[in-house]
Amino acid sequence: MTSQIIPVEAFDYVVFGGTGDLSERKLIPALYRRSADGQITAGSRIIGASRAELSHEEFRKFAGDAIRSHVSAEEIDETKIADFIGMFYYISLDAKSDKGWAALTELLGDEDRVRAYYLAVGPSLFGDFAERLHANGLIRERSRLVIEKPIGTDLQSARDLNKIVGKYFHEEQIYRIDHYLGKETVQNLMALRFANALYEPLWNSAHVDHVQITVAETLGVEGRGGYYDKSGAIRDMVQNHLLQLLCLVAMEPPASMDGDSVRDEKLKVLRCLEPINSSNAAENTVRGQYSAGANDGVAVPAYLDEIEDKGSNTATFVALKANIQNWRWAGVPFYLRTGKRMPTRVSEIVIQFKPAPHNIFTEDAGNSISNRLVLRLQPDEGVKQWIMIKDPGPGGMRLRHVSLDMSFADSFGGRSPDAYERLLLDVIRGNQTLFMRRDEVEAAWKWIDPIIEAWESTDEKPKKYVAGSWGPSDSVKLISHDDRTWHEEHDEE
Ligand code: BG6
Repeated sequence: MTSQIIPVEAFDYVVFGGTGDLSERKLIPALYRRSADGQITAGSRIIGASRAELSHEEFRKFAGDAIRSHVSAEEIDETKIADFIGMFYYISLDAKSDKGWAALTELLGDEDRVRAYYLAVGPSLFGDFAERLHANGLIRERSRLVIEKPIGTDLQSARDLNKIVGKYFHEEQIYRIDHYLGKETVQNLMALRFANALYEPLWNSAHVDHVQITVAETLGVEGRGGYYDKSGAIRDMVQNHLLQLLCLVAMEPPASMDGDSVRDEKLKVLRCLEPINSSNAAENTVRGQYSAGANDGVAVPAYLDEIEDKGSNTATFVALKANIQNWRWAGVPFYLRTGKRMPTRVSEIVIQFKPAPHNIFTEDAGNSISNRLVLRLQPDEGVKQWIMIKDPGPGGMRLRHVSLDMSFADSFGGRSPDAYERLLLDVIRGNQTLFMRRDEVEAAWKWIDPIIEAWESTDEKPKKYVAGSWGPSDSVKLISHDDRTWHEEHDEE
């Protein structure tokens, strides 16, 4: 599915935490794919830096192994791997001391090229790295900083983090990754909305009944219990990925695809979200925590058996109803849900249109079902527009519900690029459209904090749901209370 390949100018990517999990599973494989496609110009360098003592050669071996383990067999090309890992260098250094910084400074040298500093380390070290980069004169006009969530655990800590990196880097140099924005279908949502005249006139409360955003995973906490138990689904998924999706659905058409135009519009949406706090959290939110069950017929343990704190009240499932208080969306609820250990892995956005205003057909024609647009982010990326047609054939007029189905894999073939491929090179290209701006991150926390406070102020615990189910029954009630149902693919057939 990869389209036109435009090489980027030679760069230096410095990955702090270069031997860590993110680097191994995501960053190195993504850069390899871009290199294999011919997008990385010779002379570019990828410099791993962490506390481990490794030689350049050992780090090249680490990178080669990472590619062989995390890239599909058909993409493995040993000649291309050899070329690619030839770009790798390694410096052993410490964020908290001078160790290794002179060596890094010397390796980077004086050439005026784009340098991206990727902090693939915990947020508690962001400040130390930014400060040392500054102290060693490594922040230049064309230097960029890349950071990932968690950007804070609440508004105050997010502000503190933004402030500390903002002390040394201008906002235009900071790239805050939300990898959902790098997903193909998420970008397709913008293409669908703003490259077609068809949808935009309908994209409002006059025609849309409600919106659903579901991000369901079959995985549990996968050895990340220490982090996850402090975050839960609300901080781990809703504050960033789900709210970003909501913003892209709900925002006004930006003036252009330029970073600030898009982010200005997303920010306005976040600021229009009706607050959820202790006065209305009970009606608008549902929390769940999985108990033992099964995924695909394989028994899986309860959440509490996967983490240390056996009395934890962390929610692994959240459903909520968000209202956007502006002219376009007044009265159109956005139902969001996300959970671990769901029956299937699916991420999708459903735009449910209102029913046709008047029925001219007889009872024999059957029920007319309202139009629905489904954007499937993963798996099986694609877009389905559900419409009513006449059931083909002779006889009376009978209506049938069918989908205009655009599966990206069937239509375009090839593989779908991983989100990091796009994002890592956007940093080099200096394109901030798919990255979160400081004020956006803070506005998202401003809306999330009162929800967490409301939960913490009650004695109510998250409802248990069996691993492998769609969350607690209260999630169904949240939406059925409004005479609506969660979208399930089989409903349509
Ligand atoms: C991450 C969360 O941001 O997104 C994980 O920390 C989650 O808990 C992951 O599993 C989901 O990403 P994807 O791309 O697999 O849907």
